[in-house]
Amino acid sequence: MPLDLDPGLAALGNPQLVRAIIAEMGGGAIPFQRFMELALYHPEHGYYRKPGRIGRHGDFLTSPTIHPLFGWAVGAWCRWVWEQLGRPTPFAIFEPGAGEGHLARAILDWAEGRDPEFAAAVRYFAIERGARGDDPRVIWIDEPEEPAEAGAVVANEFFDALPVQLFEVTERGPAEVMVAWNGERFVEVRGRIATVDGAPPAGRFEVSPLAYGTMRAMARFVRRGAVLVFDYGYPRQELWAPWRTQGTLLCFYRHTVHTDPYVHVGEQDLTAHVNLDELLAALEAEEMETYGPRTQREFLYALGAHGLVEAVRHDLQEYFVRRRALEQLTDSAGLGRIRVIAGLRGIGGPPPGFEEEP
Ligand SMILES: C[S@@+](CC[C@H](N)C(=O)[O-])C[C@H]1O[C@@H](n2cnc3c(N)ncnc32)[C@H](O)[C@@H]1O
Repeated sequence: MPLDLDPGLAALGNPQLVRAIIAEMGGGAIPFQRFMELALYHPEHGYYRKPGRIGRHGDFLTSPTIHPLFGWAVGAWCRWVWEQLGRPTPFAIFEPGAGEGHLARAILDWAEGRDPEFAAAVRYFAIERGARGDDPRVIWIDEPEEPAEAGAVVANEFFDALPVQLFEVTERGPAEVMVAWNGERFVEVRGRIATVDGAPPAGRFEVSPLAYGTMRAMARFVRRGAVLVFDYGYPRQELWAPWRTQGTLLCFYRHTVHTDPYVHVGEQDLTAHVNLDELLAALEAEEMETYGPRTQREFLYALGAHGLVEAVRHDLQEYFVRRRALEQLTDSAGLGRIRVIAGLRGIGGPPPGFEEEP
């Protein structure tokens, strides 16, 4: 006998999360930014609350989950900062959006393996509001209690995971995209007309209201030292170029990419490219000298990452593992097009990776 097999809300993703979002809507509409906040960070059912989201067995890859050599390069960069500061102890490393600690582990391993004095100076603080890692060398915090005298802030794919406002340009100007429930699925409705400086003349685009303030706050984590940020993004002119009519919002589910945020709700990543001009302006507002953007490809090659491949030529298995990893990390159509920016305070630049004009 056939049964009614309709999975109901489960067809749209995590049913508990879908129900919680519908409840919050209360029959009305919520801004897309709030929908994204709930989908990714709902206190119980948000996408990032569950471990295992990133990596081969998750939904997408990030550089630290490809191979530790990414973290080794960042570790060497941090040691450069430490040396420029006169090798202080303690030397704080803050990592906002540290995920389950892949980058932390690689940096700390590199320090221990390479320079025990540096390793002894490092205090590693990971800031993560989703599922956290368990490396005992890492101190997991919600935010720093006070600024460190000396240190570095490193963040990989943090800003592109912040909830964004979505706008659609109408004949009256950019209308904020709101999300409502029509009894069967989430649907978009037009909200208020906004004034957005430099907005594109047509199509859809995103604004990240949290990015500027968050970048400024991060720059204040250290009194003397550096900030190093890796993220998908463009300068504003490119981000909001007239030809880019569909914005940059993307969804990642089991290593496939698509553009529908209203399916796999709570079970897929949502991400939007960042405005690099805004991040650089935030660092400058905090009296940092800024460098970049460089592509991750340019940055890693400038640091000499290919040397990590050549160094293991005698071990063919490891050689091919590293070669493949470096190809992925520097792939111009993939992770290699991530942009890298840096800010320095109290030390002279340019820092490694930013010396040459791109
Ligand atoms: C795209 S993931 C990147 C994770 C890791 N950095 C990596 O490269 O594999 C973004 C991470 O930022 C975290 N995150 C987002 N907003 C945050 C916030 N306000 N405070 C702390 N962590 C946050 C998310 O929970 C998620 O783990």
